[in-house]
Amino acid sequence: MTDPFPSCSTRHPLAVITGGAGGIGRLVIKGLLGAGYHVVAITRRGQIPTLPDSPDLTILRCDLGDTQSIVPVTAQIRAMGAPVQVLIHCAGVIVPQTVSELDDAAVAEQMKVNLQAPVILTTHLLDLMPRGGHIVFVNSMAAIVPLAGSSVYAATKFGLRGFALSLREEVKSRGIRVSSVFPGAVDTPMLQREMQNGGSALNFVTLPVQPQIIANIILRTLRRGSRDVFVPSSDGIFGQILLIFPALWQRLLPIMLWIGEKGRRKYLHARRDDEADLTDHPA
Ligand SMILES: NC(=O)c1ccc[n+]([C@@H]2O[C@H](COP(=O)([O-])OP(=O)(O)OC[C@H]3O[C@@H](n4cnc5c(N)ncnc54)[C@H](OP(=O)(O)O)[C@@H]3O)[C@@H](O)[C@H]2O)c1
Repeated sequence: MTDPFPSCSTRHPLAVITGGAGGIGRLVIKGLLGAGYHVVAITRRGQIPTLPDSPDLTILRCDLGDTQSIVPVTAQIRAMGAPVQVLIHCAGVIVPQTVSELDDAAVAEQMKVNLQAPVILTTHLLDLMPRGGHIVFVNSMAAIVPLAGSSVYAATKFGLRGFALSLREEVKSRGIRVSSVFPGAVDTPMLQREMQNGGSALNFVTLPVQPQIIANIILRTLRRGSRDVFVPSSDGIFGQILLIFPALWQRLLPIMLWIGEKGRRKYLHARRDDEADLTDHPA
């Protein structure tokens, strides 16, 4: 059989990831490198914090909010001459604003980074994916429940869920798997920025999980080929019930907000304690 990728620059399968410099993404990259992939990280940064340089890590700089710059990046990946075994869409941005105070720039940024970029990247990389390839969308519980105060983020994540489900139908005959991971709150810079800017108390109905847990779940999803994964898994059951009975949300919302407010106070308290510890005992 002739080699479909004769100019292949790496012996390892390629794993392409966006958001690889973020709280979850950088831990996923670590796991992918350990699993033997050559990782292509699409990021605005020149380096991935806390990761040492590695010959198996290629960084391609790209602002996913600048739609024009995405296709040239996919051309660079194509020029590497290797099949894309794994594609992980992990970049995301949230700007909490009520609908009456939405500003156009924040709307465009969330639409482009959270929804348009994954669509464009998938479109332009799909023909490089072999049978057994796997596409993972890092979504959010905001793809299932309404999120007053972050409607645009919720709209992009609802849209991403629709795209992933439709894509799955299209590519199953080619043997390409499509998964979505739906975390609740995760203790990363995104959550911290969100809470400084008036994010929803619903983030704290359950305690925020550590990003390593989500990274492990993404890596396990790749190994097992799971389809849709909710974290915590109780959110999955809750989410499925809400999809069947959406009106239930209105009844549950006051209780959820009450529990969430309590959780938020606990989280902020714990963070203040951590910061005080760091001030008393600097590293
Ligand atoms: N944290 C949570 O509570 C939570 C909950 C549910 C779902 N999620 C989802 O999990 C994913 C990862 O989030 P995280 O918690 O790890 O957040 P994070 O630490 O803020 O990381 C977000 C990543 O998105 C990238 N990004 C944002 N805007 C970009 C742009 N214009 N161009 C290129 N990259 C851009 C950032 O890249 P740079 O390094 O270039 O800045 C960063 O690596 C997101 O899709 C998010 O929606 C998070």
